[in-house]
Formats: sequence, structure tokens, C-alpha cells
Amino acid sequence: MHKDVKSILIEEAAIEEKCAELGSIITKHYSDSEKPLVLVALLKGSVPFLARLIKYIDLDIEYDFMDVSSYEGTNSTRDIKILKDLDRSIKDVNILLVEDIVDTGHTIEAIINLLNNKGAAEVKVVSLLDKPSRREANVKADFVGFEIPNEFVIGFGLDFNEKYRQLPYIGILKDEIYQ
Ligand code: IMP
Repeated sequence: MHKDVKSILIEEAAIEEKCAELGSIITKHYSDSEKPLVLVALLKGSVPFLARLIKYIDLDIEYDFMDVSSYEGTNSTRDIKILKDLDRSIKDVNILLVEDIVDTGHTIEAIINLLNNKGAAEVKVVSLLDKPSRREANVKADFVGFEIPNEFVIGFGLDFNEKYRQLPYIGILKDEIYQ
């Protein structure tokens, strides 16, 4: 275990097993659709999850990346600035947005709206982690790996000041690291 980590919340083997389970649910969900399926992963946190998940999706898919930063807009609503947009048109395409964690929900809410405005046939969300107790926006992921308590977590793509993304498990940092 990394020296800065207080405890492991989700072990690597459990993440792998969950990716297999989600992959098979996703395969079943889209198997009758005639439309192309594009997985849209949000940089940078969802990269390890995308890499594991796609091994278990038994369909012809494409994947692409978006990078956004969010800021407080007028009337305390959130706005997002696109730092990297999709490479292709998504008109009449099924989109599966791949997220590491849904926290307040503002990020996926803004991106779902944006992808719908680009003419997607359907936008669904798969998130490895979900912190439902922190939700502010009226959104939820369609496919969820693990519901977790209100703790700040790192590892498997998730960072604290850009560190710890490479850890193969989801962990909780020692308190002194935040101070
Ligand atoms: P939301 O817009 O509040 O749902 O935020 C989602 C984004 O916040 C995630 O994609 C993460 O980048 C970040 N985030 C939320 N909770 C955590 C956490 O516990 N650890 C690391 N990053 C987090």
C-alpha cells in the first residue's frame, strides 16, 4: 500500500470483477441497437476505468475523449469550458459517457446537455463510483460500479493535486496529507 494511504476502500480485484459485470450489462443493453456506440471518457480520471471496461464490452464500439473544466456561472449554476472536444460528429449516435465518480453531479449534467445539443441519439452514463449523499444536480448515472460514502478518495484515475492516479485500488488518504 502507498505510504500516504490510510485505508483501501475498493481492492483492485473487486474493481476488475465490477468492470466485467458492468461490461456484460452494457453489452446486453446495446446489443439490439442499430446505431453506432461511442464511449466518451472524461479526462483524466476515467482513463483506467475506460481501459478495463472496454475489455468486457462485446460489441463494435468507438471511444473518444473530452476534457472540460467547470466554473460557477451566473445564478450559481455551473458552466463548463471545453478544453478538448470530440473528434467526430455524434449526430444520431448512442453515447455512453464514462466517468470516474459522480459527486455533486454538475459535471455530468452539463456534459449530458452538451452531447444532447450535438444531436446524440441517446446519452447514458456509466460511472465507476457514485457518492449519492453529495448530489446537487438532478442527475444520476445509468450504470454504477460502487456507491461510496462521503469520503474523498484517490487511486484508479482519481487524484489529489494530480497525484495517486496510478494506484490500482481506490483508497483514502491519511489526514496529514491534506494539511
Ligand atoms: P461533480 O461535478 O461534483 O459530480 O464532480 C465530478 C468530478 O469531481 C470527478 O470527475 C472528479 O474529478 C472530482 N471528484 C469528485 N469527488 C472526488 C473524490 O473523492 N476524489 C477525487 N476526485 C473527485
